[in-house]
Amino acid sequence: MARILAIESSCDETAAAVVDDRDHVLSSVIASQVDIHCAYGGVVPELAARQHVEAIGPVVRRALDEAGAGFDSLDAVAVTQGPGLIGSLLVGVCAAKAIAWRHDLPLVAVNHLEGHIRSPFIDQPGIEFPALALIVSGGHTSLYLCPKEGEYRLIARTRDDAAGEAFDKVAKLLGLGYPGGPVIERLAQGADESAHAFPHAQMKDGSLDFSFSGLKTAVRRRATERGLVHPEATGGEVSTEVRDLAASFQRAVVRVLVRRSLTACKRERVRSLLVTGGVSCNKRLRDAFRRSCEREGFALHIAAPRYTTDNAAMIAAAAFLHYERGAFAPLSINAYANFPL
Ligand code: KG4
Ligand code: ZN
Repeated sequence: MARILAIESSCDETAAAVVDDRDHVLSSVIASQVDIHCAYGGVVPELAARQHVEAIGPVVRRALDEAGAGFDSLDAVAVTQGPGLIGSLLVGVCAAKAIAWRHDLPLVAVNHLEGHIRSPFIDQPGIEFPALALIVSGGHTSLYLCPKEGEYRLIARTRDDAAGEAFDKVAKLLGLGYPGGPVIERLAQGADESAHAFPHAQMKDGSLDFSFSGLKTAVRRRATERGLVHPEATGGEVSTEVRDLAASFQRAVVRVLVRRSLTACKRERVRSLLVTGGVSCNKRLRDAFRRSCEREGFALHIAAPRYTTDNAAMIAAAAFLHYERGAFAPLSINAYANFPL
């Protein structure tokens, strides 16, 4: 039996979790900074770092209290080392080092992307390899081939914006608020998603890479033609025209994510498809993946909604793989904004 305290602070969520034996989540505390950044329509790195400094102590304390755990009951402390915003990452890394040093615990450094990939494993037993993992978040849109547990090979990524970033930018240009994903999902319900046809970018070299900036530009053009660009609007009634445009955009994103992931599943002959990251919270996307995987015969494992956006339970889930191999980090580790998996 092993117990890990994990800390996540790579972007705008301060999170801590206590997890036993890989997947028994005793607590998962997330302090979101959305209210602070929403006035600016996106994450302001300097504000994020300062907010992490204020939140980190209370969040760790709460995670331990909710788990009924003391520092002396822990076997290791894990932390996200990268990728992410450097000022934000450093807060978590410094806190984890301090806890490790003070309580004489081994330190486990985790790649944020490995955390996302491990998120379906928390509550879904029997996931079979080889697997394909789609990470679809605000910072990343990538496909990883996982031949076996703990092995990751990048086979496709976005060449420009991440899918979540596209949701955020489209919401901003239509004056719908921040973060864009949940707002667009809500407004798209009951709207006409076939009102606008948006072609999806195909790579000329046959690669499975994604591109979302062309789609964002197409939405902007359509919105400009119809006088729907309102970057300063906040709240209030949203017109049917805007809702149809948002729904059509959502459909285009979902379509390309599903199609490309399934093409990769067939090409790589995997048994399972893992879908993770903030955008995978989207119900329209979850339903589309379910339908397609059922039709094509792939076992689908989408992270539970509470583990899709940034959280520390997924960091603990990834940390166990390193802990079990005895792969510990020295107290001299640094954080890295760019940190490939
Ligand atoms: O995984 P995450 O919390 O942070 C990163 O590692 O990037 O993902 C945040 C992203 C944001 O861009 C947000 O707009 C998007 O996930 N998102 C969604 C939904 N909920 C969050 N996108 C579409 N539909 C949603 N329901
Ligand atoms: Zn993330």
